[in-house]
Amino acid sequence: MRIYREKDYDAMSRRAAAIIAAQVVSKPDCVLGLATGSTPIGAYKQLIAWHKQGDLSFAEVHSVNLDEYAGLAPTHDQSYRYFMQDNLFNHVDIVPENTNVPSGLAEDAAAECARYERVVAELGYADLQLLGLGRNGHIGFNEPCTDFPKATHLVDLTQSTIEANARFFASADDVPKQALTMGIGTIMRARKILIVASGADKADAVWKAVAGPITPEVPASILQLHPDVTLVADEAALSKLAEGAK
Ligand code: F6R
Repeated sequence: MRIYREKDYDAMSRRAAAIIAAQVVSKPDCVLGLATGSTPIGAYKQLIAWHKQGDLSFAEVHSVNLDEYAGLAPTHDQSYRYFMQDNLFNHVDIVPENTNVPSGLAEDAAAECARYERVVAELGYADLQLLGLGRNGHIGFNEPCTDFPKATHLVDLTQSTIEANARFFASADDVPKQALTMGIGTIMRARKILIVASGADKADAVWKAVAGPITPEVPASILQLHPDVTLVADEAALSKLAEGAK
């Protein structure tokens, strides 16, 4: 695993954006696996700036997002589809039909999960999968569990994730209790993985993901087995890792 230790959130965001841009420049028709959450917002802003300067085009890119809340319409301002439109897609030249997010409104969530897994498989899985890291070590919405879920599936969110995400809703009661998420198997099929982490509240999860035992209790720990993982984190998020950063 390659680790970039960056001074702060802005430096982390620029480094992550540079890695994503390098992927798009070297393979313009690549498949980008994308994440929501607060951590990647700065990287998306940088990508938008490079696009507006004329240095980066997403015209041939396909995207596959990690997850979506069950029950939220794409127009709901806390849905992950809305987030992606607002934070990236509406500001770059990606073709709308080439962007993929699981549908939170599907009546048959299991069928939607199977459909989404097929979409990702037919695209050949992600060339580069961007991941944020939950404080409990989750990736996508793969929560601490007794096994590693393989494919896209419906998941019950843990109380800690509901509480962490409550800041975006009127109250914790308004946070959806379920989500559709790529499985660990879907994520691990990406050719390259880029994890971003910022802030002291991620230090424990970063340490466990990078240096702890590989266990479904810390879903991100499986990334230790992936051959091409880059972690871009700020000093606060890396504070529990004694060494190894460059
Ligand atoms: C988002 C996602 C989640 C977040 C994680 C960290 O699509 O799948 O795993 O990446 O919860 O979220 P932030 O960046 O808000 O701390």
